[in-house]
Amino acid sequence: MEIKNICCIGAGYVGGPTMAVIAKKNPHLNITIVDINADRIAAWNHPDLSKLPIYEPGLADIVKDTRGENLFFSTDVDSAINNSEMIFISVNTPTKTYGKGKGMAADLKYVELCARNIAKVAKTDKIVVEKSTLPVRTAEAIKSILHNTGNGINFHILSNPEFLAEGTAVTDLLNPDRVLIGGESEEAIESLAKVYSSWVPENNILRTNLWSSELSKLTANAFLAQRVSSINAISELCESTGANVNEVARAIGMDSRIGSKFLNASVGFGGSCFQKDILNLVYIARSYSLNEVADYWEQVIIMNDHQKRRFSDRLIKTLYNTVSGKKIAMFGWAFKKDTNDTRESAAIYVADHLLNEQANISIYDPKVSEERILTDLNYLNTRTEAENRNGVSYTALPLDAVKDAHAIAIMTEWDEFKAYDWQDIYNQMQKPAFIFDGRNLLNKQKMDAIGFEYYSIGQ
Ligand code: UDX
Ligand code: ADP
Repeated sequence: MEIKNICCIGAGYVGGPTMAVIAKKNPHLNITIVDINADRIAAWNHPDLSKLPIYEPGLADIVKDTRGENLFFSTDVDSAINNSEMIFISVNTPTKTYGKGKGMAADLKYVELCARNIAKVAKTDKIVVEKSTLPVRTAEAIKSILHNTGNGINFHILSNPEFLAEGTAVTDLLNPDRVLIGGESEEAIESLAKVYSSWVPENNILRTNLWSSELSKLTANAFLAQRVSSINAISELCESTGANVNEVARAIGMDSRIGSKFLNASVGFGGSCFQKDILNLVYIARSYSLNEVADYWEQVIIMNDHQKRRFSDRLIKTLYNTVSGKKIAMFGWAFKKDTNDTRESAAIYVADHLLNEQANISIYDPKVSEERILTDLNYLNTRTEAENRNGVSYTALPLDAVKDAHAIAIMTEWDEFKAYDWQDIYNQMQKPAFIFDGRNLLNKQKMDAIGFEYYSIGQ
């Protein structure tokens, strides 16, 4: 099928950057990103590029070049579906918060609504591409909805998982390790391969069956998350034995069979994918009664929850077993640097734990808004909104967060934290002044020399 017009449903962290790069590399294609969230579309269309709803290094430049040329943002979902030969589904697929599979299975209601909408309005044949992270065999469900509720037209379903990591989305999209396309129709697969071949070498475009493609996405994230949980497990052992986890990671990372990536011990992994994808894997394994497989992967999550809890417990214990009424500054709220995304960020859970102990938390993050922080805490349902507002304050400047604080907890590895005048920060704080470095970002000797009581992960 000749592709001239592409529609992407969902203008989020995946849909936005992916379509911007496809548009940039395919000036002959017309691309429309649609979303039911009118505020989000308005933000994508904002003349001031610093107001885009998503922060990603390099993204604003690409949007500047393509927006209004061959990249459009709109709330008119139906027209965009009708005018396109290829439709990407990039809507959110959070973990279910209700009913069967609560806390484990992916909530597919947004995907299903999309499929029903496509079936309802489509008047010509379409290629439908799964881009959201989905459990294995979701394509089957989409196919069934399209075929049974459509107007007798042909739909080809493809799975094309995204492997971009937030914070490096643009470079990941421009230089992907591989692009994976799963499907049943060779013709449909080749139509999508052609879109990518504008900039991705042919050898890096892999074709598989639908289910291999869906499962590869979950497996990649499960393996990456497992590495983080593995090194985090060793970090606890290091703290008990006097070994240094940074030294251990360096030593094992030089083994070419292991490799050096994803070995940074941390306060715990976050983000919208790792936990959700592993839970999907666990859920699907259990649904086939593969309990050992399910338990094996579930342990990666258990370790991660333990790591977050351990971090706040250590902070409380070190502050003489109480943080009640003490001011704790948190540096960073995003789940990693260079993004304004906070989904599943370890900071949320650490803050929650400290608030339960009646700490006063003062938060600084260069890209996350006060409103977002409060929404994240309210979403936990541990406290009322008023209680959260009472316990947490937000500062636009790091020095305001640390004024009279007893401790600083570093939650995100923002580069700017390394460049601070830490002597000045020390001077503003209560003494003894503690740092709990959840990202092993700072230099221990330097912090010791200033006079800080410095604690990091696995040292
Ligand atoms: C991940 C996958 O990397 C990407 O391929 C997939 O498409 C989506 O999920 P993302 O969630 O954006 O991407 O971030 P990633 O860089 O993988 O980091 C996930 C979490 O692990 C972050 O909280 C990060 O801080 C943490 N992490 C990562 C560590 O704690 N230590 C490490 O060594 C690496
Ligand atoms: P991701 O990280 O997977 O991109 P986001 O939550 O950032 O997730 O983005 C998903 C987007 O999909 C949201 O902006 C949401 O409003 C949009 N969305 C969800 N359901 C639909 C739908 N049926 N039609 C159009 N847009 C939708």
